[in-house]
Amino acid sequence: MRLDKFLSDMKYATRSQLKKDIRNGLVSVNNEIIHQSDYPVNENRDVVCYKGVPCVYEKYVYYMLYKPTGVVSATEDKKDKTVVDLLKDTGRNDLFPVGRLDKDTEGLLLLTNDGELAHNLLAPGRHVEKVYECSLKKPFDVSQQEALEQGVDIGEKKRTLPAKVVLLGEKKIALTITEGKFHQVKRMLQAVDNEVVFLKRVRMGGLHLDEELKPGAYRKLTAEEIAMLQSSKEGKVHKKC
Ligand code: URA
Repeated sequence: MRLDKFLSDMKYATRSQLKKDIRNGLVSVNNEIIHQSDYPVNENRDVVCYKGVPCVYEKYVYYMLYKPTGVVSATEDKKDKTVVDLLKDTGRNDLFPVGRLDKDTEGLLLLTNDGELAHNLLAPGRHVEKVYECSLKKPFDVSQQEALEQGVDIGEKKRTLPAKVVLLGEKKIALTITEGKFHQVKRMLQAVDNEVVFLKRVRMGGLHLDEELKPGAYRKLTAEEIAMLQSSKEGKVHKKC
């Protein structure tokens, strides 16, 4: 692969900037300064340094973020800090969140530059499971559970698809849904005459929020997690619930 493509695939800078930087001697391959943008590199073997920093070739990257409250799920925003701002020290400028969590929702958010994977996880027909821990304003009861499990009217054309409910306390449940409508969980709880006071996503497909992460912290997905997301046709859970 060409040297400028190697660096631009990883979004270190624009292709035109990289061409200038290569010409100006800011890039080395195997400890030798290279001035030709089309210099051939082997991404698996050669050591490429840009501005003195070694670059590992990764076309696609995948990060799990523990989204804190107060941050918006966007790549840029005029007013608020975004989830992408939290991943600034990755050195990448092409990351985007896979789906959205409300500003006041916390928990698992996947960020990547892999559009195909994102599309597969978000496509409505895939019915990827999302699990939310919901703290509620009022005690939760059996009639609310039955309604959520059957599907409720949240003002859309169709009722919501059947959800799964696990009781976690008098005013706390884990709700599993397979859709991703705007404010869906809050609207579902409203539809059964309750109210979400705090919302945290803990799972998406087979990907579980890492319990070691604190709000605002992130880590790369493991090779196993990436393979699982790529192979799970419907995002169904492979291991613990
Ligand atoms: N449902 C909501 O209501 N809010 C979220 O952030 C996610 C799901």
